[in-house]
Amino acid sequence: MDNQRITDYLNKNLSAERYRHTICCAKLAAELAMIYGEDKNKAYKAGLLHDVAKELSVDKMREYIKDNGMHVDVYMENNPALLHAYASAAMAEAIFDIDDKEILSAITYHTTGKENMTLLEKIIFIADASDESRTYDKKIEQWRELAKNDIDAAILKVLDFNIVKVVNRGFVLHENTVKARNYLVINNVRK
Ligand SMILES: [Fe+2]
Ligand SMILES: [Fe+2]
Repeated sequence: MDNQRITDYLNKNLSAERYRHTICCAKLAAELAMIYGEDKNKAYKAGLLHDVAKELSVDKMREYIKDNGMHVDVYMENNPALLHAYASAAMAEAIFDIDDKEILSAITYHTTGKENMTLLEKIIFIADASDESRTYDKKIEQWRELAKNDIDAAILKVLDFNIVKVVNRGFVLHENTVKARNYLVINNVRK
């Protein structure tokens, strides 16, 4: 499906705030793709669709995930906020005819991250965390600028921030987030 039809759907079906976040995320993803030599159109499309299921009911999200044959793991069972990433990938495939596995994977892992992420997965992860619409922390602008120079370093900062936040709130921490973080530390991103 072309971007205009996707954008029309998002505009109609998402809240104004989420719609703005989605467009800002897609634009930043495309910018990062140009910097790092990733496919700009794939990055933009993944950015557009990364939260497409976020405002559905938990039951509806589960339905998309199940119909797609994806597995709801014990972490997602206990932290429904994690469901939307998988549901958005399932919906991108079912409703928007996205069959590019790299795009679908970037959407799937945009919230938790994962060990040894592909470039597109990294771009969507950091674009989602640091686009212009984001206001959850005063360091976001720094992360966004860092992402343009050293994407791994920016991702590590966001993962560390997310891990502390999730633990402080008493939520379930997905193992993929821990693996994503440790992978970067083991591979000396801080040096
Ligand atoms: Fe999300
Ligand atoms: Fe998002």
